[in-house]
Amino acid sequence: MKNIVIFASGGGSNAEKIIEYFANSPVARVVLVLSNRPGAGVLFKAESHHVPTLTFTKEELENGWVLRHLQAFNPHIIVLAGFLQKFPADIIAAYPHKVINIHPALLPKYGGKGMYGIHVHRAVLENNEPESGITIHYVDENYDEGNIIFQQSIALADCATPEEVAAKVLALEHEHFPKVIEKLLTE
Ligand code: GAR
Repeated sequence: MKNIVIFASGGGSNAEKIIEYFANSPVARVVLVLSNRPGAGVLFKAESHHVPTLTFTKEELENGWVLRHLQAFNPHIIVLAGFLQKFPADIIAAYPHKVINIHPALLPKYGGKGMYGIHVHRAVLENNEPESGITIHYVDENYDEGNIIFQQSIALADCATPEEVAAKVLALEHEHFPKVIEKLLTE
């Protein structure tokens, strides 16, 4: 049985889909959800599924405190699902090729600092892009720049607002993210 650890900053709809997908899986289960935001919706979602949670400060993320707690959970994969802080180099170095992130656009376009959530979808629409999509990639020390594992695109012809793009992209994330994690854990 493999251990999945999730970092998230927000509502945690992706985290919840992953928890549910693996709830009765013989492959893996979610053993810990961490957040930098004490009131984040993801923490309530995790608790409602009886998944342990941990919150931390920026300092604790950067001074090795979070890494020490992670080690106790023996993660086989570390999943960033809407985690909006820079991920520290010591955790990336301790878990090479085991930290992955989901981004709500087709990288390398619309990535980098400040490109998260609705900001991404607004920029995509402002540039009249015919399509957008999702990217799942390994995390390195730069924002949104690690090797790409999986991409899926969708047409934007019927989307007039960033919120409509967001809803379409989020549905795509929910559909694919758990399956990609499972594939990485079994290959
Ligand atoms: C997701 O759309 C994810 O791709 C995005 O945050 C959202 C979190 O939603 N991540 C980024 O923008 C990272 N740059 P959720 O909390 O409902 O899972």
